[in-house]
Amino acid sequence: MSIRRLPSELVDRIAAGEVVERPASALKELVENALDAGARNVSVRLSGGGIGLIEVVDDGTGMTPADMALAIERHATSKLPEDTIDRVTSFGFRGEALPSIASVSRLTLESRECGADGWRIELDHGRKLAEGPAALPPGTRVRVEELFEKVPARRKFLRTPRAEYAASLDAVKRLAMARPDVAFILEHDGRRILSLQSATAPARVAALLAAQLEKHGVGIDCVRDGLGLTGVVSLPTFNRGVADQQYLFVNSRPVKDRMLVGALRAAYRDLIARDRHPIAALFLHVPLDEVDVNVHPAKTEVRFRDAAAVRSLIIGGIRAALDAESHRSAAHEQVAAPVAWTTSEQLVSPPAPVAVQAQGVREQRPLFNGIRVEPAARAEPAIEPVRSFPLGVARGQVANTYIIAEAEDGLVIVDQHAAHERLVLERLRAARIGGAVPRQDLLIPEVVEFEEPDCDRLESNFAALGDLGLELERFGPASILVRSVPAALGSPDVSTLLSDLAGEIAELGSALSLQERLDHVEATIACHGSVRAGRVLSVAEMNALLREMEVTPRSGQCNHGRPTWVKLAHSDIEKLFGRK
Ligand SMILES: Nc1ncnc2c1ncn2[C@@H]1O[C@H](COP(=O)(O)OP(=O)(O)OP(=O)(O)O)[C@@H](O)[C@H]1O
Ligand SMILES: [Mg+2]
Repeated sequence: MSIRRLPSELVDRIAAGEVVERPASALKELVENALDAGARNVSVRLSGGGIGLIEVVDDGTGMTPADMALAIERHATSKLPEDTIDRVTSFGFRGEALPSIASVSRLTLESRECGADGWRIELDHGRKLAEGPAALPPGTRVRVEELFEKVPARRKFLRTPRAEYAASLDAVKRLAMARPDVAFILEHDGRRILSLQSATAPARVAALLAAQLEKHGVGIDCVRDGLGLTGVVSLPTFNRGVADQQYLFVNSRPVKDRMLVGALRAAYRDLIARDRHPIAALFLHVPLDEVDVNVHPAKTEVRFRDAAAVRSLIIGGIRAALDAESHRSAAHEQVAAPVAWTTSEQLVSPPAPVAVQAQGVREQRPLFNGIRVEPAARAEPAIEPVRSFPLGVARGQVANTYIIAEAEDGLVIVDQHAAHERLVLERLRAARIGGAVPRQDLLIPEVVEFEEPDCDRLESNFAALGDLGLELERFGPASILVRSVPAALGSPDVSTLLSDLAGEIAELGSALSLQERLDHVEATIACHGSVRAGRVLSVAEMNALLREMEVTPRSGQCNHGRPTWVKLAHSDIEKLFGRK
């Protein structure tokens, strides 16, 4: 592979624009070059989120000293041998990345072809400082230091090293998913973050996204009209608060394409709440002349000749796979064994308030405010007077999801999860406005492991979360210690709660006011503290829920805008039976 200067008419056809805007984009270009050079092993070292140092070492073809000199010139590339810009299969094709990075940093390029000697070129903001022989194994090593140090306009827009690190980690993950056959190592500030052996695509995706996808994922593999789609998507019930785990690839190139994201979203329409997002890694295989990768300077967007066909393949493919698996649900494991539907002769005594212990062991915590009950569902004989309660008296539970209550003027059906979620939210909100959210200390503080960027996001919000009753402490670089949860929550799954919160904080960024952010975070917390659909409730628990709904403002609709209960009036029922 030898490098040549591109003819000017080709240069003019290349999507121009800034290639390097932050460390992660420089890193992405360097790793892409390593992959284009046929590397089997790519090793990345970062310090200070890449602001201090980016080093990429590969065992690819390497370059001769003459090629190295050309590589750092603009518009010199080895990747467009026949001027076939319309049929690009490599990541690179513009001959722009290395000179762009070199012009805003101190760059050291070392390379060695197999069987030849190694060479090194050192550049300071595009100016050659030194060159000479170098000792290295066959392959290429690029070091980038002092990035943007002499470009104040760019430097100013860099975020914290942690935020830049998060972006770099994401860039490496995307490329590692695109090329599961290549081994990757990532180190940040001396710590090993990723160590990935060459693997199959599903194994690589599982290693990088979520191990749970093995259980809660659905494989996609379909072909239509010469277009192919493979990958894995999560069951609708296994979702996230933000769309940060959606990885899309077109012919093995990671893309962030609006049309594709929209199609993924559309595939889940009416299967998932509007503010929840599936996890997905989708690989689209498209004939080269059907797609144009040369529309965006960072090559993260593409244009399809027949976008409608691509959209329809994604929606149709995912939908078919989900439908085939519709009996599965990530919630299944949480469902208690069904309880026999019996009639109790014994009257359930009216709920007696029990003081919530400040130091309760979590398992013993009552589900609803201050009421302890035995966890079994029973149908109740219609003895209790129904007149006094607008939402009636619980008579039983249907599908472990709906509470059936008898009111004076009809039959009330309550969606237990939607209703309870609303109650928890209103409780949290009232407590916050009142100045103190009661917290429930965990008897044994729980340690939850996360990726470092997620821990950072949570940590920078410890004070605000503390005000909401969630007392957290940093516990090493990649874990968080949970000391207390809002008392209104019952016993939430702390780990998913925190991961949703981290995702939410990432998405909200600083665009919203503190007040708005608190509102969002509260809604997420409320969702986690709520009884799930599928949970068996005792009659006393059901009645407690109904009574609380009656006195809680806005309890008629859930946090997603759906009704929490409906009523069939006696006259409606009579109509159903033709009595009227
Ligand atoms: N790690 C590497 N191993 C071998 N050759 C490399 C490596 N990095 C760069 N090169 C050579 O240097 C050339 C210039 O690299 P550069 O990234 O600037 O441009 P490109 O990859 O051709 O196109 P693009 O600007 O789209 O990335 C490449 O075409 C390739 O021949
Ligand atoms: Mg390149």
